[in-house]
Amino acid sequence: MLKVNNISKSFGGRTVIEDISGEFDKGKTNLIIGSSGTGKSVLLKCIVGLITPDEGNVYYDLRNFTDADKEMKAEIRREIGMLFQGGALFDSKNVEQNVMFPLEILAKMSPDEKLDRVNFCLKRVGLENVNKKMPSEISGGMKKRVGIARAIVNNPNYLFCDEPNSGLDPQTSIVIDDLIGEITHEFDITTIVVTHDMNSVMGIGEKIMFLFKGRKLWEGSSADITHSNVTELDDFVFSNKVMQGLRKRT
Ligand SMILES: Nc1ncnc2c1ncn2[C@@H]1O[C@H](COP(=O)(O)OP(=O)(O)O)[C@@H](O)[C@H]1O
Ligand SMILES: [Mg+2]
Repeated sequence: MLKVNNISKSFGGRTVIEDISGEFDKGKTNLIIGSSGTGKSVLLKCIVGLITPDEGNVYYDLRNFTDADKEMKAEIRREIGMLFQGGALFDSKNVEQNVMFPLEILAKMSPDEKLDRVNFCLKRVGLENVNKKMPSEISGGMKKRVGIARAIVNNPNYLFCDEPNSGLDPQTSIVIDDLIGEITHEFDITTIVVTHDMNSVMGIGEKIMFLFKGRKLWEGSSADITHSNVTELDDFVFSNKVMQGLRKRT
């Protein structure tokens, strides 16, 4: 379980996220949703420590990450897998080298063990016999799969995905969402997915936090999202094409 307590962050005097608290459950796909520019990525960066919050604390299973010393921070970081916005593979490395990269820096394994682990993860995301392909030679959906394989190669307890569907067609998006959901359940990972895609919300939103202009306005499950009585959430949900057939009648 991962917990944030009263997280705030400003840039140049402008508050970008304000007093956000919440819990993200183990073995579930926890979503942070909201329109573009509303502070989702900043919150995720505060959680992983890429940004230091001005106020508040982040707890990884009761370990206070924000106040942790260098060793404890490093220990927690080793338990995190990340799928960055845009995929971000190393263009000059082939598929196998991309997935192996975290093992090269973090794992104490023999070369054979590393290769076995890489092949296990590639197989798990449905990629076989593409080890030697370069990122430029594979499709957008395959690149995401490679990104997921790389994110889970260290057997993470926590998996963070920022807009995993960006740039994908709707069909491929569903496949990638489902894969993230399956992996989360199978390996009992505390997963956080940042998204503004209502397809993802309805597809894999087990626990959802809705942000609006840097504040948390609602949390709940996808089953409750269409009757929240939060105007801003309704606007977000029903402005989406996927949901227009379900628009509430007043
Ligand atoms: N490093 C930064 N410096 C200044 N402003 C930033 C920085 N990162 C994000 N912002 C601003 O914070 C706001 C929220 O951004 P972000 O979290 O990326 O939104 P989104 O919900 O689309 O992920 C935006 O207005 C953005 O311009
Ligand atoms: Mg973002």
